[in-house]
Amino acid sequence: MNTELKRRVRVEIDLGTLRRNYERIAAHARPARVLCVLKANAYGLGVGDYARALAGTDCAGFGVAEPFEALELVKVLKRIGVKKDVQILSSILPYEIEAMVKAGVTLPVTDLGSARLISSAAVKARRKAKVHIKLDTGMGRLGILVNDALPVVSEVVRLPGLEVEGVFSHFPMAYDPEDPFTMRQIESFKSFLASAKKSGITFAKVHIAASDAINNFPACAKPPFTMVRTGINLHGSFDPNGRKALNVEPVLTLKTRVAQVRELPAGTTLGYGRTWCLKEPTRIATISAGYADGLPLALTNRGHVLINGAVCPVVGRISMDYATVDVSGAGEVRPGDEVICLGRSGKFSVTPDDWARLKGTHAYDIICSLGTRVERVAIG
Ligand SMILES: Cc1ncc(COP(=O)(O)O)c(C=O)c1O
Repeated sequence: MNTELKRRVRVEIDLGTLRRNYERIAAHARPARVLCVLKANAYGLGVGDYARALAGTDCAGFGVAEPFEALELVKVLKRIGVKKDVQILSSILPYEIEAMVKAGVTLPVTDLGSARLISSAAVKARRKAKVHIKLDTGMGRLGILVNDALPVVSEVVRLPGLEVEGVFSHFPMAYDPEDPFTMRQIESFKSFLASAKKSGITFAKVHIAASDAINNFPACAKPPFTMVRTGINLHGSFDPNGRKALNVEPVLTLKTRVAQVRELPAGTTLGYGRTWCLKEPTRIATISAGYADGLPLALTNRGHVLINGAVCPVVGRISMDYATVDVSGAGEVRPGDEVICLGRSGKFSVTPDDWARLKGTHAYDIICSLGTRVERVAIG
């Protein structure tokens, strides 16, 4: 008997599927290069495994949100001996700059002040700091307002110690392929590029598209754009709205085990709030995963899991550590049996996008919400 203690809930990341997803995104985006966005620990799934799986591809590098994520990636890449750019996409705080310049992380310039601080840190460290200028074309979150950008950028490119490699922006609603706001953002970005060029300023890397625009605005992968950024499509999920042009597949399978199986009489109510009452004697399995593991409360009386390749409806409210499911159609089910919460079994599958629809959210929220006690296991 195998006595090794195993976690009750595990998420398996299929690295073969991940690489296939990457290749499909890259083929779709060509000639633009692809920056893989692995922020927030690769959306919670494990940045080390993602970086190792993607390091051998032709990706342009890795994007993150903040310095600790950047340092983790720098460490992983060093360990495996791969040279790829690691880039902070959002903002850099003054006290973070020195360490990031020393680590060789590509930094965002969100205003003249941040550019000056990066420049001084680079000069002090006697090295060049690679930067990308972040333009706000309509996201309303960070960066230099596009209409004010030319004079600022003209000053930034003259600062010592900087290699101004790129310029970029971000869309708030590129899931809508007809959206005029997105079109206006593209036009204002292009018009900035044209006036910068007239002033003799050009950029090696020009990027605006994340997954939404890769699917809905393919023009954002063509000149003058030279790079796209992708996060959610790598995991095989999409924004709930808009086209799903890419043929990517979910990389993750969330599994747990059956804790107990009981034949319960008609009239039994299940779980907190007594939200489900059995109309007839029913075989109910209690499974060892709840909202602390990432099962949305919204699965209550609406979702299902897969056991023995059969669909088993969730009956009763999801609790912190357990959920109850109807296993009447699943054949013989015993304690310890495997339960697929997300993933494929036989002819059925449940995806993060399915859960997102039930919860009224997006797949980002579902994937990032897997609990800390869920074991992350890379396969393939
Ligand atoms: C600046 C930036 N670029 C790219 C991404 C990746 O987005 P997605 O996961 O939709 O591809 C994000 C994610 O929020 C982002 O903030």
